[in-house]
Amino acid sequence: MASTHGAAHQVLVASNRGPVSYEVQDDGSLAAKRGGGGLVSGLSAIGPDAGALWVCSALSDGDREAVRRGIGEDGVRMLDIPADVHADAYNGIANSVLWFVHHLLYQTPLEPVFDAEFRRQWASYETYNRAFAEALAEEAGPGAAVLVQDYHLCLVPGMLRELRPDLRIGHFSHTPWAPAEYFRLLPDDIAQQVLRGMLGADRLGFLTRRWADAFTACCTAFVDGLGGTEVGVHGLGADADFLRERAHRDDVTERMAALRDEIGEGRRTIVRVDRTELSKNIVRGLLAYRQLLDSRPEWRERVVHVAFAYPSRQDLAVYRDYTAEVQRLADEINSSYGTPGWTPVVLHVKDDFARSLAAYRLADVALVNPIRDGMNLVAKEVPVVSDDGCALVLSREAGAHAELAEDAITVNPYDITETANALHEALTMPAAERAERTKRLAAAATALPPAQWFLDQLNALTNQAG
Ligand code: G6P
Repeated sequence: MASTHGAAHQVLVASNRGPVSYEVQDDGSLAAKRGGGGLVSGLSAIGPDAGALWVCSALSDGDREAVRRGIGEDGVRMLDIPADVHADAYNGIANSVLWFVHHLLYQTPLEPVFDAEFRRQWASYETYNRAFAEALAEEAGPGAAVLVQDYHLCLVPGMLRELRPDLRIGHFSHTPWAPAEYFRLLPDDIAQQVLRGMLGADRLGFLTRRWADAFTACCTAFVDGLGGTEVGVHGLGADADFLRERAHRDDVTERMAALRDEIGEGRRTIVRVDRTELSKNIVRGLLAYRQLLDSRPEWRERVVHVAFAYPSRQDLAVYRDYTAEVQRLADEINSSYGTPGWTPVVLHVKDDFARSLAAYRLADVALVNPIRDGMNLVAKEVPVVSDDGCALVLSREAGAHAELAEDAITVNPYDITETANALHEALTMPAAERAERTKRLAAAATALPPAQWFLDQLNALTNQAG
């Protein structure tokens, strides 16, 4: 935006998805929608006087239109990167290659394929990263702190370092990091470029020790170690104050009543809330639920699986196929087991935060079974807002497991029998024990609220010798 150009900011954040998006209305005007999440509340912790700037991509037609019309918010600069370059970088490289590598999602015999098309997309990924590095170099004041986010922007630290050696540069990974044995399936030059790009930072942050160690192992295996770059762990927690207040507003209470109608009187409820994302393992969750109904018929008519699977990355065929498979399997379970008064799976695909909170409040069991997940905030949010206590079935491969293992029921996300048994155990957990565990889970889940999470990183970066 014109208003922020050329200003010398002392704190800058860079991410693909920004804190605000625009939609073109029927009358041609633009409606702004503000997003939530850890970074948004984290950044607000330093207050408006800090003069921070958030650099992000224009993602929608409305965003591009806003950039063209010079509309925007103070403290946000959207980059209008050509749509084809962005699509190659975001869909092609970030979400189809780097996301797949870090979440161990490739499936032979079709994937991965690193061919001429991949090289073309990689060039777009470089262009896209360069656009961020140039914008940051232009906006940052002398010695400013720049916090670059996630796998979309791995090359930015190195590129920015060359343009502006005076800056303090941090990078934070919100995903897992691949084990070296899996990371090495990338072409050698690409693997090295990713690592060297990130090592351009003074400091790298990860959500758990496990992901930080995996990154360090990759650096030992593929480049000459970490060099002078520091690696830190910051386990983002749930925002208890915000969640508790938000979860008690009228729109949430109304949705609880509607959900109770859908579930039916006196039934137990297993809840899951995810983006419809391959790594979230929604299909195996449904298979485990089907096995529960099959192997323990006493649960029929007495339990409902409420699954919110919100559309994500629908430009990618593999995500569209996955969404269809989730829908198909839910329908199949409902037609095999359902009765006139009982729908075993209640599946909603339209994103509705108030309804998610309603489900969190009334859940008896939360199912969080990702194949691999940087953290997984659902596992942390449910215990915070639960009304009567909720048993947590949690994958050992979620970053949150490192902090919540003691009071969760742990599952191997690939093991459907184990997951079905865990659901049974969760459903039969005595109410008092469930409430006690939920209290302890909530305490662990809120140990590092977003504001502190952000400040810790900023302080570590700016206080670091260098
Ligand atoms: C993960 C990533 C984020 C990303 C989010 C939603 O949590 O770490 O960087 O913003 O997924 O994905 P999307 O592709 O919709 O931005």
